[in-house]
Amino acid sequence: MLQDTFGRRFYYLRLSVTDVCNFSCSYCLPDGYQGRPDEAFLSPDELVKAARGFAAMGTQKIRLTGGEPSLRSDLPEIIERIHTIEGIQTVAVTTNGYKLPQRIKRWADAGLTQINVSIDSLDPIEFKHITGHDRLPEILDGITEAKALGLTVKVNSVLMKDVNDDMTSVLHWLRTNPVTLRFIEVMETSDQEVFFRQHHISGGTIKSRLLADGWQPVLRKVADGPAQEFWHPAFAGRIGLIMPYSKDFCATCNRLRISSLGKLHLCLFAEQGIDLRPLLQPDVPLSAMIDAVTRHLGAKKAGHDLFSHASGAMANLSQIGG
Ligand code: 5AD
Ligand code: SF4
Repeated sequence: MLQDTFGRRFYYLRLSVTDVCNFSCSYCLPDGYQGRPDEAFLSPDELVKAARGFAAMGTQKIRLTGGEPSLRSDLPEIIERIHTIEGIQTVAVTTNGYKLPQRIKRWADAGLTQINVSIDSLDPIEFKHITGHDRLPEILDGITEAKALGLTVKVNSVLMKDVNDDMTSVLHWLRTNPVTLRFIEVMETSDQEVFFRQHHISGGTIKSRLLADGWQPVLRKVADGPAQEFWHPAFAGRIGLIMPYSKDFCATCNRLRISSLGKLHLCLFAEQGIDLRPLLQPDVPLSAMIDAVTRHLGAKKAGHDLFSHASGAMANLSQIGG
């Protein structure tokens, strides 16, 4: 099992399949995707090889991220091939929900077990304002469909002061919808320093408000991710808080990341990735990649350095999918 020098174990891999995104979220790609959409992102064979290597090192869960993963037409094939790898119990996708109703059935048939959908507001006008797209009803239909197919569905909302921190539309929606919605504190990236200064608000503020309004903490299990969850007897849904700026956030880190160009990132905000791509080629034995990952893991630091505004190489999160 992959373990670092701080005793943290990594049973979870986030594998990015593309940098391209068709939304223009204000905190991420306010001017839309600017890179080259035809860049050579990892092929299905390379992705599968990476996944096989990690499965051999104890990885049980793989999340396909982007950019927007659904923009790859071979996503169903990728899901299917990763799902059949021995040791992989969960295949998840993080998506902005674009065309979700049309796509979700094929993904489910391919073996997808979980989707995380990014929705920063449940108010259609505010949603359009944030993402640049008037697609909230379609995304919500996709979620209904995903639940009907038996998938686990979570919603992620980036928490932004003076944008969605009043929680009005979210609370209204969670009254009747049995979904967990997690607020993620906006993180500083090198492209968005001004936005960060204007809109960062601590999840702790929301937590105090929830507790005052009768929300109660859900007891945490050992393998739980970084979200602190809350429930309320009058609400069908739950609220989670992901607070990367809170003390000890990194102590429970259980994930590693591979970018769509094949770089291993030990932390979202690590300075530069380690190039695994040459080791994902057909003529290279899997053991070479396993050795490289095991060796590099020794360099994983205790935590990020966001407190001193060091966002590492991270210009925006479309690069390695958050
Ligand atoms: N801070 C926090 N989360 C972010 N995401 C993207 N950019 C940021 C940021 N600066 C996350 C959001 C989004 C997903 C694609 O990545 O959850 O929904
Ligand atoms: Fe696209 Fe996600 Fe970035 Fe929004 S946050 S622009 S959906 S990659």
